[in-house]
Amino acid sequence: MSDTNSRISNYLETPVLKIMTCGSVDDGKSTFLGRLLLDSGNVLNDQLRAIENSGRGADSTGKAPELAFLVDGLKAEIEQGITIDVSYRYFFTSNRKFIVADAPGHAQYTRNMAVAASNSDAAIVLVDATSGVKIQTKRHLSILSMLRVDRLIIAVNKMDLVGFNTKQFRKIKDETARTIQNVYDHPCSFEFVPISARHGDNVVGGSAKMPWYSGKSILELLEGLEVDDSKDSPFCLPVQYVARDSGKRFYTGTVISGSFSTGDEIVVLPSSKRTTVKGISVAGHDSTGAEEGDPVMVELADDIDVSRGDRLVKSEKDLAQGNALSCRLFWFGEKPATAGNICEMKFFSRRIRGTITQIKEKFDLDNLKRIPTGGLEQNEIGFGRIVLSAAHFCLPFNDSKDLGSFLVVDIGSGDTVGLGTIDSIENTGPTYPYATIVNKSMRASMKSQHPMLIWMTGLSGAGKSTIGNLLDQRMYESGYHTYLLDGDILRNGLNGDLGFDAAGRRENIRRAGEAAKLLVDAGLIVIASFISPFIKDRSLVRSLFAKGEFCEVYVSAPIEECIRRDPKGLYAKARRGEISEFTGISSPYEPPVNPEIAIDTSLCSPQEAVEQILNYLAED
Ligand code: ADX
Repeated sequence: MSDTNSRISNYLETPVLKIMTCGSVDDGKSTFLGRLLLDSGNVLNDQLRAIENSGRGADSTGKAPELAFLVDGLKAEIEQGITIDVSYRYFFTSNRKFIVADAPGHAQYTRNMAVAASNSDAAIVLVDATSGVKIQTKRHLSILSMLRVDRLIIAVNKMDLVGFNTKQFRKIKDETARTIQNVYDHPCSFEFVPISARHGDNVVGGSAKMPWYSGKSILELLEGLEVDDSKDSPFCLPVQYVARDSGKRFYTGTVISGSFSTGDEIVVLPSSKRTTVKGISVAGHDSTGAEEGDPVMVELADDIDVSRGDRLVKSEKDLAQGNALSCRLFWFGEKPATAGNICEMKFFSRRIRGTITQIKEKFDLDNLKRIPTGGLEQNEIGFGRIVLSAAHFCLPFNDSKDLGSFLVVDIGSGDTVGLGTIDSIENTGPTYPYATIVNKSMRASMKSQHPMLIWMTGLSGAGKSTIGNLLDQRMYESGYHTYLLDGDILRNGLNGDLGFDAAGRRENIRRAGEAAKLLVDAGLIVIASFISPFIKDRSLVRSLFAKGEFCEVYVSAPIEECIRRDPKGLYAKARRGEISEFTGISSPYEPPVNPEIAIDTSLCSPQEAVEQILNYLAED
């Protein structure tokens, strides 16, 4: 191979360096990126001319070209003078190829910055030489630390505005280094470069204005950064789609770590079924193997059950299995994260319901310390525990960025509200999925019905039991297989050991929910009537069921009406103080926010209420 050819082939083989820029909103990110692209020869003349011709070719001083326009492509960004989305740009030099993620600086867009960080090898953090470290700089650094972006280049920008003064550079450098040391709880490498993005000093070339700086320019540092391309992480392919063609089944997805070849023995998780790889095609071409990052279509030797969300791995032992995750959470939901929140955790194409059982500490940006807390507000990073409703195969984030991270999705709105990284994985429950030979759908089809739980909640005396009994009778008469679960019945047996304090009620509802789940699994339509006064307890029950299997019915009547009805004489007793913690009198009731059905029994007869439920079920 000629010298030139081998240089070209080396170049093509070099992995792309994934970098990102971040920093507070006025620290000059877009100007910096524009300068980097322009001076490294990555801007076409016609792009430059287009900007000059558009009348936006000069900055606010009217002198220097407005470099930010080279990268701030979105109209809204230009109007507001900010970058609002992550944009990815490719650029290259004669030594290296780069993908740069331009992340937004504004606090409300911090989630996009986190998304960019989760996919970056290194970060260029801009700090303004005139003002130093800002709260948003600290926030960005703490996200970089959480997502283990451990190679940083700190660009101390706007050196022209401080007269290229070495003392000022050193002051900002010391302040930033202290911040990094406090924020990072593991080793990271960082270098400082004094730059002027506007004038180009130390961005691509050197700087005549700062002879006191003998280090490298930003581009030189980038060209020399080492990429950790160790490919010893275990093979994992999350199945994204199952395609069928001429009677064969093909599984598509992107290899998130490791590599595999045809003939390899593989295991399907979570079912642990084994088979061999029969065929692989990478980006539409037949291949004998594939590696991390490759989009693949796989054919397996045996016709085993593999669904979307399953993972193909070489051995279960490569991953840890557990249902309880100690994790770090970056929270960007508007509503705070607190213990008891039930969310959906998204591990690539697999979604698993889980409960945040603890938020114990958060990272305090003012003092750069971990402090105790009960919850996380928007844009906060904290440390907590999540218990999943099913065991999952994963790895700590330290061992694998892809297998050790997840997104948190709000069940109600479907919005992504957080990003998590796993510190450790534990097993607190039975872990082996137990598949029965006769299953729910077989039992359901034998009964020709859709098994589900109709959960009635409301004050004592609101009419739950009356409606529940009538509904049970009507459905029974129509040939449905139903079963009635009632607070008064369960509290006389299974739950006879429980009181009416919040913990007693929670356990009462948990057991009722689990019992209902078994009955639904047996193919029955279960009608449950429990006061179930707390939203959290009811959402726990909801989380046990699939969509369409749970129907919440809010049975209400004004409290005065319940007191007037007082079918068991309990309101009178409670008012005399003979019963403590009686719902509606001395214990609270939290009405459902979004029940499937709401019935006000002061406005309709029990028969009409039953009709309303039956109509809803018929529509579904
Ligand atoms: S829940 O709050 O835990 O959901 P559940 O529906 O099981 O209550 O039981 C409510 C029934 O228990 C009431 O209908 C009533 O007969 C009886 N009861 C006895 N003490 C109380 C109390 N302090 N609060 C509410 N119900 C009570």
